[in-house]
Amino acid sequence: GPALSGEHAEAPSIAALRKQAEGCERCDLYKNATQLVFGEGPGKARVVLVGEQPGDREDLAGRPFVGPAGRILDECLHEAGIDRSSCYLTNAVKHFKFEQRGKRRLHSRPNAGEVQRCSWWLGAELDKLHPKVVVALGATALSSLLGRRARVMKNRGDLIPTPAGYSVLITIHPSYLLRIQDKEDAAAERGRFVRDLAKIAPHVD
Ligand code: URA
Repeated sequence: GPALSGEHAEAPSIAALRKQAEGCERCDLYKNATQLVFGEGPGKARVVLVGEQPGDREDLAGRPFVGPAGRILDECLHEAGIDRSSCYLTNAVKHFKFEQRGKRRLHSRPNAGEVQRCSWWLGAELDKLHPKVVVALGATALSSLLGRRARVMKNRGDLIPTPAGYSVLITIHPSYLLRIQDKEDAAAERGRFVRDLAKIAPHVD
């Protein structure tokens, strides 16, 4: 996919890409979302973390991973010895997709077409940053980055090299940890997530 397109001679800056993306009509998700949630982080980041799409809180704030999933991601990064502020955080899809239920806005999964169209932006971000490692947080990010070549539960913890020069680390989405009911299972899965993230610690600086 476009995420593997390699470096451009003169890749536009992240700020310029964000500005362009504010007017994006590649799919219909901009119509109901409050605003674009573009990636953010240092331009010199060696590690990029890719989620699925902004949630309710991110949609309102205009920033990625500022809600409950972001909090658990921050904690797990910290436990893995990684400072969030040294990473670039973004999403496979950059507008919130939801179903209105009374006053609540329930997250709904972006479809393959929406992921495909939005992968243009993810590819542009990666072309600009050319990181060493890109962390696929869950199935949506993984399909945007590697298409159908890998599966989260089968390939979890693997670092897959790509022709664009970065490797993709495959792991779960942090919101998965919030949905596990059993306390022991949740703790075990959280520990596994921290161990997956610890694999990128040597690449951060
Ligand atoms: N979940 C995501 O995948 N991305 C965010 O930015 C927040 C929650």
